[in-house]
Amino acid sequence: MQNYVDGSLAQEMRSATAEQKVDALFNYMEERGQSFYDEVVTQLEHALQCAALARQNDASPTLITSALLHDLGHFILDEHNADTAFLAMDLNHEEIGAEYLAPFFPEIVTTPIRLHVPAKRYLCATDAAYHDGLSEASKKSLIVQGGVMSGEERETFEQIPHFQDALTLRQWDDLAKVKGLEMAELETYRNVVQQCLS
Ligand SMILES: [Fe+2]
Repeated sequence: MQNYVDGSLAQEMRSATAEQKVDALFNYMEERGQSFYDEVVTQLEHALQCAALARQNDASPTLITSALLHDLGHFILDEHNADTAFLAMDLNHEEIGAEYLAPFFPEIVTTPIRLHVPAKRYLCATDAAYHDGLSEASKKSLIVQGGVMSGEERETFEQIPHFQDALTLRQWDDLAKVKGLEMAELETYRNVVQQCLS
């Protein structure tokens, strides 16, 4: 793992009980989630809106947990304090977040996190309306992320267990950017997240 990843959360979770792990995770998200995800919502608001969409759609506990934690890579990368050279790069927050959480959560939770960026590339290939509905920023980042998936890439993607969860998560991710939306707080997800720990 690159040295600009903040290892403090993982360190705190490593020797903790299940309850303490969730405490550490939630405290970290509260603390680090106040920076802006985009122009309208903070990182924490984005995570909570994504998880709320999962809950409203009767998603499984594992997919609700994926939704809540899908951008953890952004939190631990601390991109806002990073050198400007980093900002122009794609830091692979999806891989870094999934890898960071892998010691604590099963693959069914971490795979949708790992795949939520390729899922956008997949959906752009299979659904023109999906592509048209993306924000300008998201259309632009698609290019950095590798562009629309080829047929061969889609076939490979479909071989990955839980890839469908990643596609579903991606669509909530795109919707979870509503300014000033009232939503359930982090504590609402305590039991769901705790029961998903491996
Ligand atoms: Fe996101």
